[in-house]
Amino acid sequence: MTQGQRLQAPVLGLEASCDETAAAVLAPDGRILAEVVLSQTAEHARFGGVVPEIAARAHLASLPGLARQVLAEAGLRPDQLGGVAATSGPGLIGGLIVAASFGKGLALAHGLPFVAVNHLEGHALTATLPGVVPQPVAFPYLLLLLSGGHCQCVAVEGVGRYRRLGTTLDDAVGEAFDKAAKLLGLPWPGGPALEQLAKAGDPTRFPLPRPLLGRAGCDFSWSGLKTAVAHQLGKLATVTQQDRADLAAGFQAAVAATLANRARHAAAMLPGATALVVAGGVAANQAVRAALAGIPGPGGPGAPALPLVAPPLRLCTDNAVMIAWAGIERLQRGLADPLDHAPRPRWPLDEMSAA
Ligand code: KG4
Ligand code: ZN
Repeated sequence: MTQGQRLQAPVLGLEASCDETAAAVLAPDGRILAEVVLSQTAEHARFGGVVPEIAARAHLASLPGLARQVLAEAGLRPDQLGGVAATSGPGLIGGLIVAASFGKGLALAHGLPFVAVNHLEGHALTATLPGVVPQPVAFPYLLLLLSGGHCQCVAVEGVGRYRRLGTTLDDAVGEAFDKAAKLLGLPWPGGPALEQLAKAGDPTRFPLPRPLLGRAGCDFSWSGLKTAVAHQLGKLATVTQQDRADLAAGFQAAVAATLANRARHAAAMLPGATALVVAGGVAANQAVRAALAGIPGPGGPGAPALPLVAPPLRLCTDNAVMIAWAGIERLQRGLADPLDHAPRPRWPLDEMSAA
């Protein structure tokens, strides 16, 4: 399809870059016709994290069936699609190969355009999906991507126009939650359990650092905070349930305060921002949301807060709706990819802006 030609038919989205296998069919206007996400959490839990080889095999086993399922639910044959969009990076190479190869095979067999979608672009554009948030978000906006694999702050200036303002120097924030939770004896993935435990805790009892707080820019660093939790635990002769709850609350408060500080700096780096959009599993955390709700908007301190926009949780975490939507946005602009496009485990969003 070339620029100017309107996309007439629905698009199939495929996602398999980490530990969720997902497929979705969206109409060209963004209506969700069918969607399914299959989480592999149970398969990885006993190893305390995602095992790439297990993930790749599970994607291979599930993706074709999930694609068939969403097509059937949407009442479509593959040849009635307007295109196929598959996550082609960044992520674990095994899963990327599964999604991209399956997508290309379908595109080749039925003469459909193929779009190699950057997973981060999927997260970035979710807030523009009609009907997803009460008020559609206008460009430019700030995106805080807070997941188990990513921790970055991005200026989203338009489709294909992204500027990474800051990133983590070590762990992703979800990874930090998981590591702190593990120290506190909670099962993986530990973020939700840590939030639960923190409810009974005193966040002020243990002195914990706020990494990079006040430092220029909006980079992140979480490994020191996790080490500080380990250090405080090590100082206790015996660890009671109250100690664990206090440490969980202290850790969560430190993360929330640090994120708010980094978001303040990011807002100053994009003075025209219309909103602060959060995505990724950590966006489910209520303390994090509360801390991000009062970031000053254009005009600085005293100005009205930047609206905090959080897509529904199922669209904040990994899913194929966002991949189909990014595919639609690209196809509407004539941006299909050749079938020899190679999946990329590392694929920074700003490189797309350069292109
Ligand atoms: O976006 P996501 O579902 O996928 C991947 O990154 O794969 O994010 C998962 C991460 C995990 O690290 C999990 O512990 C964290 O998000 N998470 C939370 C909460 N819910 C999920 N962290 C803190 N509080 C939560 N309520
Ligand atoms: Zn993701």
